[in-house]
Amino acid sequence: MTEKSTWEAFFDAHAPIYEDNVFTKNTALEVDFLLEELSLQPGASILDVGCGTGRHSIALARRGYAVTGIDLSSEMLAKAADAARAANVHVDWIHADATRFTPPGMYDCAICLCEGAFGLLGQGDDPINQPLSILGNISRSLKPKAKALFTVLNGTAMLRKYTNKDIAEGRFDPLTMVESSESPPREGLPAVAVRERAFVPTELILLFRFAGMSVLNMWGGTAGNWGRRTLDLDEIEIMIVARKITEPSAASDDWQRV
Ligand SMILES: C[S@@+](CC[C@H](N)C(=O)[O-])C[C@H]1O[C@@H](n2cnc3c(N)ncnc32)[C@H](O)[C@@H]1O
Repeated sequence: MTEKSTWEAFFDAHAPIYEDNVFTKNTALEVDFLLEELSLQPGASILDVGCGTGRHSIALARRGYAVTGIDLSSEMLAKAADAARAANVHVDWIHADATRFTPPGMYDCAICLCEGAFGLLGQGDDPINQPLSILGNISRSLKPKAKALFTVLNGTAMLRKYTNKDIAEGRFDPLTMVESSESPPREGLPAVAVRERAFVPTELILLFRFAGMSVLNMWGGTAGNWGRRTLDLDEIEIMIVARKITEPSAASDDWQRV
């Protein structure tokens, strides 16, 4: 990889304190939830995109799954590798950009959690092409009919959070659903300007369909409060459960109302 993108710089600097974030404290319950949704065979292969410090990858490897974790940040991956060694489990860690990676294999399922790459836009990234490239790469990494589970920022919550003043002052763009902010990756470090994209459910169905996946369900995916409930306007993150399809035109029948 060439020069660091903003998110790579952000997470490289954030890595030492990432797991202090309160939203990382529910990993065991999240892994139970994942395994119920994904109905995997023992020992199945799992691709974790934007795996971060590997908290889901390692918990899944502990339960006997063959896990590959991909991340843009070498510092997050270094933390992940240390934690896997301490847990005495094997995970394949790959330093790659989810918008560009070559699928390292064919997987029984994929996860992309807590905005693991999806919607974390680099300064020059197009708000439609960025998520679509990630979906295409994940779809190409999956065996036919394999499932994928994502949690992504909910556009309706973002629309309710911002005002016309925020739009005028450049903090939120309702045309692209991108929020722009500056935050220091950790105390004492200079702020990094970052762009985050939120999604509305209908466009998610369409984006997944373009990438050859059919959305099966959308659940409450807010960190710390995953649940099979009807989405409301304030749900911070949407969980998407999807299945790879071989014929994109067959997608429409798979969608179930939640
Ligand atoms: C909020 S963290 C989520 C980490 C992990 N999935 C979790 O639930 O704890 C987002 C992760 O996505 C990674 N990331 C951001 N953009 C990426 C990209 N284009 N390709 C791969 N990883 C990316 C970051 O480095 C970071 O580790």
